[in-house]
Amino acid sequence: MLLASSLAKAEDGYRLWLRYDLIENANLRTEYASALNAIVLERESDVLKAAAYELSLALNGLTGITPKINKFLSGAGTVVLGTPESSPIIASLNLSEKLSQLGAEGYCLFSTTIKGKKSIVIAANKDAGVLYGTFHLIRLLQTSQSVKNLSQQHTPKIQHRILNHWDNLDRTVERGYAGFSLWDWHKLPDYIDPRYRDYARANASIGINGSVLTNVNSNAQILTEPYLRKVAALANVFRPYGIKVYLTARFSAPVEIGGLSTADPLDPAVKEWWKKKIDEIYTYVPDFGGFAVKANSEGQPGPQNYNRTHADGANLLADALAPHNGIVMWRAFVYDNKVPEDRAKQAYNEFKPLDGKFRENVMVQVKNGPIDFQPREPFHPLFGAMPQTPINIEFQITQEYLGFATHLVYLAPLFKECLNADTYAKGKGSFVYKVVDGSLDNHQLTGIAGVANIGNDRNWCGHPFAQANWFAFGRLAWDPTLNSETIADEWIRMTFSQEPEVVKSLKSVMLASREITVNYMTPLGLHHIMGWDHHYGPGPWIKDKPRADWTSVYYHKADSFGIGFDRTKNGSGALDQYAPEVQKQYSTLESCPEELLLWFHHVSWDHKMNSGRTLWEELCHRYYQGADSVKWMQKLWNALEGKIDPDRFVQVKSLLNIQHNEALLWRNSCVLYFQTFSGKEIPAGLDPPDKPLSYYEKLQFPFAPGIRPKW
Ligand code: GCU
Repeated sequence: MLLASSLAKAEDGYRLWLRYDLIENANLRTEYASALNAIVLERESDVLKAAAYELSLALNGLTGITPKINKFLSGAGTVVLGTPESSPIIASLNLSEKLSQLGAEGYCLFSTTIKGKKSIVIAANKDAGVLYGTFHLIRLLQTSQSVKNLSQQHTPKIQHRILNHWDNLDRTVERGYAGFSLWDWHKLPDYIDPRYRDYARANASIGINGSVLTNVNSNAQILTEPYLRKVAALANVFRPYGIKVYLTARFSAPVEIGGLSTADPLDPAVKEWWKKKIDEIYTYVPDFGGFAVKANSEGQPGPQNYNRTHADGANLLADALAPHNGIVMWRAFVYDNKVPEDRAKQAYNEFKPLDGKFRENVMVQVKNGPIDFQPREPFHPLFGAMPQTPINIEFQITQEYLGFATHLVYLAPLFKECLNADTYAKGKGSFVYKVVDGSLDNHQLTGIAGVANIGNDRNWCGHPFAQANWFAFGRLAWDPTLNSETIADEWIRMTFSQEPEVVKSLKSVMLASREITVNYMTPLGLHHIMGWDHHYGPGPWIKDKPRADWTSVYYHKADSFGIGFDRTKNGSGALDQYAPEVQKQYSTLESCPEELLLWFHHVSWDHKMNSGRTLWEELCHRYYQGADSVKWMQKLWNALEGKIDPDRFVQVKSLLNIQHNEALLWRNSCVLYFQTFSGKEIPAGLDPPDKPLSYYEKLQFPFAPGIRPKW
């Protein structure tokens, strides 16, 4: 009956993974209810109150019992929350040795007996750690784990764990597929949408501690007084959840809103302007985090407009932020189609010589791969190449190149592939995650950024499974060594169901989904062959546009001999930017993993692949296999009818249908187009597409989401 009643309740996805529905297993409910019937909070702060509120909300929902929040320990079954400063009980527990290892955000969570009463303690050095520990305890309850003999301690491996919102002030979201921006700038600061708090709760639950509110293609208006008041209102909502706000700084702001005639970073008047502006920001937001900056990239202004370097630009802002402990995240995503050089090489060429030239409060923010968030890329050559500079990694959670909010693609395996890649910068074992967590080059300042997939859709992310990518980003930002499967397991249990069959099926779908998408979009190392500008659907035929480096033919280089971008010494030489061991791995057709073959090599259509097929045959097989595998995902999903709440069941079912149709669109377009170069038949056993190439080439999607509508 309980099952039936929980299934009957409409589930719109709003609660994300923080669903606190009554636990069906009565024994477990009783165990939790008796172990956790009261919360002791001896001294309050906004953060500690947020923690206690969340725990009581969760316990009430999960066990049906509302725990008392007391200032004193009274009976057994109590959770004591706090820091040695805020809690005399915790101060009396002799935790100093333990706590000394936990830093500002770590926590310990353990069972103990206090004054003869069985208790659970969540202790930390700072309130934020208590908040994270509380969410950890809630996660244990949501995933049916025992709380009898708890003994855990955790501390985040990366310091700045930040969402980057590409949100514009008109509420459009660049590459956003889940509606409009959450930030209702027009009504701020007077109207505080309750979603702001739920957004903060969700982030805190996975350890995210920063939010860049605005698009990297920025608008200087955000730095004006009326907008700073709005920013302050958001910061006030986020603060109790340990989240700092950051903004994007438009480099030409001194000219656009400051009335100066230049934005030259070495000009004294410009320095003075930024100093005053930044001092002003801190009057509104005393714990303002700092800036993310896109400069001299894709038309954005920057220091190079004045013949200065990226370091000059970053240091200008860093100097003004330093007295307030603010930081700069200066993006390395730079390339110029007027520079006659492989786009994949340009960021390295620009930034590597600047190693050691940045102020201490600057991180250089590097995308996971050298091109642009493709379904598969090798790791960016800047990882490991700038030992004197803190490098923070940028992932894209929003699925610009992975099927928008329509395709089920679990991104943890993509994130992990990059984090676990070995740069060999300091010999074997110099993994990207060690560059990012600062351990490889001994940096204290560390960071990770994820381009958010959040909008004002009721379920936040558009696709119910896109929520998993927000979740996975947060979990990996906290600990990049967690594995994709564990994270999927947690998320499924918290979001959908704990029934073993459901968990098993969804896990296998999620874990396979990224590779399936690679197969039907860009197998074997192909990249950037999607539709012009909006990046929706296949567009391998895109050519003759104002920028060659935004066309598909620039990347796949298909001709009658073969296909792929030669980045070896015989080609663009991009491979030279990696350590010798990495070069060795990728430099020959024999040693290069097939997943990246066409990224690094121009390969003959007749080249023999590991499967024994020719490259042409293998390419076709991958496209067909990708599309067929979506059918497999549909089959597994459909078998869960009745085990998933009806609303989300139907929604995902419909989205998988769209995904299958779009996978067929990709498959048919790409095999027919590449066939015009290979001149070969589609291999026997694979049904040829039922429409000619011209049909696919003519399809237009002028209103595909994710780019500013032209009203
Ligand atoms: C991609 C994306 C742009 C974005 C850019 C960036 O090119 O298509 O919309 O502005 O990345 O990261 O700056």
